[in-house]
Amino acid sequence: MDAGTPQNRDTWGSKTAFILAAAGSAIGLGNIWGFPTQAGLNGGAAFLVIYLIAVAIIGAPVMLGELMIGRHTQRNPVGAFKQLAPGAPWWLIGAMGVLAGVIILSFYSVLAGWTMAYIVRAATGAFTAGVDTAAMFNDIAARPLPAISWHLGFIILTVFVVIGGVRDGIERWTKVLMPVLLVLLVLLAVRAVTLPGAGTGLAFYLKPDFSVVDWRVVIAAVGQAFFSLSLGMGAIITYGSYLSKKDELVSSAAWVTGLDTSIAFLAGLIIFPTMFATGFDASVQGPSMVFVILPSLLSTMPPEPYGGLIFGTGFFILLGIAALTSSISLLEVGVTWAVDEKKWPRKKAAMLLGAIAFVLGIPSALANGAVDWLTNVPGVGMDFLSLLFTIFGSFALIVGAFFISIFVGWKWGVKAGGDEVRATDGRFRLEGIWTVLIRFVCPAALLIILVQTLLDTF
Ligand code: PHE
Repeated sequence: MDAGTPQNRDTWGSKTAFILAAAGSAIGLGNIWGFPTQAGLNGGAAFLVIYLIAVAIIGAPVMLGELMIGRHTQRNPVGAFKQLAPGAPWWLIGAMGVLAGVIILSFYSVLAGWTMAYIVRAATGAFTAGVDTAAMFNDIAARPLPAISWHLGFIILTVFVVIGGVRDGIERWTKVLMPVLLVLLVLLAVRAVTLPGAGTGLAFYLKPDFSVVDWRVVIAAVGQAFFSLSLGMGAIITYGSYLSKKDELVSSAAWVTGLDTSIAFLAGLIIFPTMFATGFDASVQGPSMVFVILPSLLSTMPPEPYGGLIFGTGFFILLGIAALTSSISLLEVGVTWAVDEKKWPRKKAAMLLGAIAFVLGIPSALANGAVDWLTNVPGVGMDFLSLLFTIFGSFALIVGAFFISIFVGWKWGVKAGGDEVRATDGRFRLEGIWTVLIRFVCPAALLIILVQTLLDTF
């Protein structure tokens, strides 16, 4: 199916289908890799508290705002802003989203490639008690050929699904597999919190020590919230643009936000007890953390000796699919733009943008031990992948969300947004709170954070 002009555009099959697809975009490596990694680097429980506050008062209102814009205009992010604010430069927010989508995809696919490599490892029996998971990680990520090949493989998969279009491609995948992932995560969390020595990890994750909080922690938490919810770069505008004029907006936004946050929370509940119980604590940090710690937990799953094989393979297959349903939304932003605005065929758009993301991703694929100056970028103090994550996976999304909240709150207007909700929901229950959040709280909080980021960096 082709997503052409607003008249003959594809739509999701039902509200549930939309919720699952948008949750599919939101739930991904950001929850299972990004959230524990950031929480680990930024103080654990205190980070969790700030993260939850950020989701509630900044993430959720922006989520609703993006859905309103998307559903109202039924256009890609660039076209949507052009329609709502003709002749004004607001469309640049959409353009930045297209760019951020391709760049995020470039490193996201590297991480997802590791996930695929782990499927093979797990299925061939590598996850057994006492296995050296750090060596296993290096064997995949620190060697150029496997790192780049898996990255390429994942990009091809993403392009393939996106060519299928909204309903036939994306919807079919997410419907069944998201619920299965949730069940498996609950099982792993139960296993993790009952490990001997899990208590220290639980305390790190759940007993906040606010003395560790500084601006850096707040910036990381807000950025992580946007990344995880797929906000600030037009993915939710794009998915909302395929939402039918019959489906309710507020409950859709609430479901997506709630599911995404629950899964991130669960991931922390799995990682931190395992990390402390297995004695990893300070020794692993950065992108490799989750990929080293998770396999060590999976290797302990009963029944011996098949637990690691069964749970390990199952887990990484589901994680790979969760990553795929996110990566297709990253690519879809640019593809919807190229199809709507440039009148490219869907296939050409997906292949060309996918190729760009592949090439851009090569340095990230080499940044985990394969090439020294990419693994430790001079003068920056982090690896190249983490650098891209900080700039495009965090800072750019905060900038995007800042302008989106100004646009919805002041330019397009809360009245127009409210009407879009009322068109399907009948009445707009939380209109008062939402109005205050989107007009005042979001722009003010995001502006302070942006200024602090600049002060911190320079
Ligand atoms: N939210 C996705 C994840 O958590 C990543 C993503 C970010 C997807 C931005 C789309 C847009 O994995």
